[in-house]
Amino acid sequence: MFLRKLLYVCIPVLAMACNTNNKAQTNAFDSSKGLKDYYQSYFTMGVSVSPASLATEEADIILKHFGSLTAENAMKMKNIHPKENEYYWKDADSIAAFARRHHLKLRGHTLVWHQEVPDWMFAPQNGRPVTKEMVYARLQSHITTVMHRYKDVIYAWDVVNEAISDDKNEVYRKSKYYELCGEEYIAKAFEFAHKADPKAILFYNDYNESYPEKRKKIISMIKELQKKKVPIHAIGLQCHWFPEEPTQENLEAALKDFSALGLPLQITEMDVSVYKREPVARAKTPADNDTLYSAEKEKIQAEKYRMGFELFRKYKKHITGITFWNVTDRHTWMDYFPVKGRKDYPLLFDVHLQPKKAFWEVVKF
Ligand code: GLA
Repeated sequence: MFLRKLLYVCIPVLAMACNTNNKAQTNAFDSSKGLKDYYQSYFTMGVSVSPASLATEEADIILKHFGSLTAENAMKMKNIHPKENEYYWKDADSIAAFARRHHLKLRGHTLVWHQEVPDWMFAPQNGRPVTKEMVYARLQSHITTVMHRYKDVIYAWDVVNEAISDDKNEVYRKSKYYELCGEEYIAKAFEFAHKADPKAILFYNDYNESYPEKRKKIISMIKELQKKKVPIHAIGLQCHWFPEEPTQENLEAALKDFSALGLPLQITEMDVSVYKREPVARAKTPADNDTLYSAEKEKIQAEKYRMGFELFRKYKKHITGITFWNVTDRHTWMDYFPVKGRKDYPLLFDVHLQPKKAFWEVVKF
């Protein structure tokens, strides 16, 4: 009888103990470090997201590994402000709500860009062709409205994106903004943004940041803006990379030269394609074998990430954040560019949401 009683008491206690043990193990596994923990004393780790990605199991990866979000497309002008008198807030609002709910930082992307410009920006008004004054008024109204809506949650904005040309023979990209307003539109955009939210950190953001020619052009533009006391506070280096580029030498020279401007830097759109760089879009051909993410491709990619992060850590005094452009290889813009429909594998997590070789190289230091 006593033995039976003892068993009644002991079995549940033992079961509870086993459960606790299991739980402890699960917790130990679950709480294994995310990217943001490895880099806690270096920089904020971020990722670009869509409302769709926040509604899938990718959300778990986001919360475990990242402390900052950027809207991949939802805040681009054409999406958020499709008609002059009509904003579309739903997608951007849901990203902002997720950031608020989970106490994540949020970067705003982007206010002035030559792509995703809605037609109304350059449309005639009352039969009069568009003038630069009209464009400035429209820009200011757009910038002010969007920045005010997210003032409480967005701490930094990519104010001007990709204004510098890749063409060796020109400095500024020949965008519609440039053709109508000259380079002055860049300073105006920063002034409007500063007025809308004096506390926001205002970025100039661009790609091909490590090519010597392009980085020199970006740097001289920023020096000019600084001379004119334009409120530009930080520089975004997109870092869309390829197996062969950038070289370690070019990346280090870029980090050194950009740091010398005395403004904080962020890596804003990082990914490493597994294919050679092709600047012009083309159709997919039978020779594009995209189903094989070979061990060799994975190794080269992991090495590029390792090299990049080693240098980022070396420049940690100047770098305040690193953002990846998309969460996992399930979805990447590189599936559509330069070859539409060719699967790419540019991120740290694979299509099954598992950390890749590149992930382990990034956190092994
Ligand atoms: C640029 C833009 C981003 C994104 C990427 C690729 O880098 O800044 O918003 O569109 O291209 O998709």
